[in-house]
Amino acid sequence: MAKPPSRHVCQACGAAFAKWSGRCEACGEWNSIVEETPRAAAPGGLGRGSARGRPQPLALVSLSGTAEPPPRLVTGIAEFDRVAGGGLVPGSTVLIGGDPGVGKSTLLLQVAAQLARRGLAALYVTGEEAVEQIRLRAGRMRLADAPVALAAATAVRDIAAALDGPALPAVVIIDSVQTLWLDTLESAPGTVSQVRGAAQELIRLAKARGFVLLLVGHVTKEGVIAGPKVLEHMVDTVIAFEGERGHPFRLLRATKNRFGATDEIGVFEMGELGLSEVANPSALFLAERQGEVAGSAVFAGIEGTRPILVEIQALVAGQPPGSPRRAVVGWDAGRLAMVLAVLETRCGLSLAGRDVYLNVAGGLRIAEPAADLAVAAALISAASGRPVPAGTVVFGEIGLSGEVRAVARPELRLKEAQKLGFASALVPRSRSEGQAARPGGPHLVEIASVGDLVSQLTAGPARTGGPRPLAIERS
Ligand code: TYD
Ligand code: MG
Repeated sequence: MAKPPSRHVCQACGAAFAKWSGRCEACGEWNSIVEETPRAAAPGGLGRGSARGRPQPLALVSLSGTAEPPPRLVTGIAEFDRVAGGGLVPGSTVLIGGDPGVGKSTLLLQVAAQLARRGLAALYVTGEEAVEQIRLRAGRMRLADAPVALAAATAVRDIAAALDGPALPAVVIIDSVQTLWLDTLESAPGTVSQVRGAAQELIRLAKARGFVLLLVGHVTKEGVIAGPKVLEHMVDTVIAFEGERGHPFRLLRATKNRFGATDEIGVFEMGELGLSEVANPSALFLAERQGEVAGSAVFAGIEGTRPILVEIQALVAGQPPGSPRRAVVGWDAGRLAMVLAVLETRCGLSLAGRDVYLNVAGGLRIAEPAADLAVAAALISAASGRPVPAGTVVFGEIGLSGEVRAVARPELRLKEAQKLGFASALVPRSRSEGQAARPGGPHLVEIASVGDLVSQLTAGPARTGGPRPLAIERS
């Protein structure tokens, strides 16, 4: 039989091409295309005169009927369980993706140990590190006594054979899916076809035998090995593990969950003993906040179902001769451009020609438009050199005409602010019951427009010291 023609597959998105090129036309990634030889036998479809016998009639049922909520395996690591939707569902597959070094192996070793200590059989298969390395880590994290079964393996055939016996683990951890190797495929480990093929085999086995499959996937920017993206449609749950280098905070975020809500976050802190849970993220994110400093505002945000207070910092600097710099960490650059344009057009705050830096402290990434007003407050404060009054939280969405719009769950945000001792809140004008001032809660200052915000923040005498105030002309 003739050798099937090879194809060129993008390792980032899985798109296949007849010819190699330096850049993938489908996803735009550079240097991600690798030659692969496909399987000799392509799936033949159903064929015409199939000799496989008659088709069976489909059993059709109605939408109503008994649907028991799936039983869940609870690890006892509350931040992890919540992101997973209340625990791990037997037979399901969870993909945990993240940059190398963010702490995926550390987290999953803790998960395995906790499950094992609760009497559930956990198998940890390492394809990246030697058994000794994992043992050393377990010893350092004081988990060595947990009855976790540990194996170093990369061949899917060997792993599958181990999972075919009578002694079946409840949870199987594969660290990482990019090291797996299926001997029926010719391509190298880490290529799209290997990663997909290997994952498919294990996912099928997990469904058939009812164990939880946890797959670790490295996210790579270089596109040298296939990223978790190519697996996202195959698995039940996708959890991203995020963290900025140099910050101890780590965030778990479910981006897909067939058995629970997405957008829940779990907050951890990386320390000597591995990852510890952070039960009160607001206190953590605000811990290093300096007193009254110009350019800082506290945003009362919501991540999933949880309110989180976080500091937004802005710096307005210099008047460079060339085009000014706009740098953002933790927020959307397009959204910053919009807020700047609105401030400039609607209230004459002149920032054009000046460098603007925006930072969400603590390494959190905010996606909510509700942060607009807090960003605007930080910018106005930075530009005018006047601190936002101490003990104030801010939230609200800004529209293009400068109006400030109501946001979801004001009551939850205000409750968190009250819990952390904030005395006042700059909030959108709202007729909603939820936003009514609560006894003992923050004093509410309703802001109708960005112009209102400027007046609110720049009223009163300027402070001496600190950055020189910028003259704000009103148009
Ligand atoms: P690791 O879990 O190996 O990352 P990944 O599997 O995502 O590549 O974690 C790597 C980093 O975590 C490493 O730089 C050291 C740090 N770390 C700690 O700070 N404390 C610890 O207890 C452990 C186990 C790791
Ligand atoms: Mg690892």
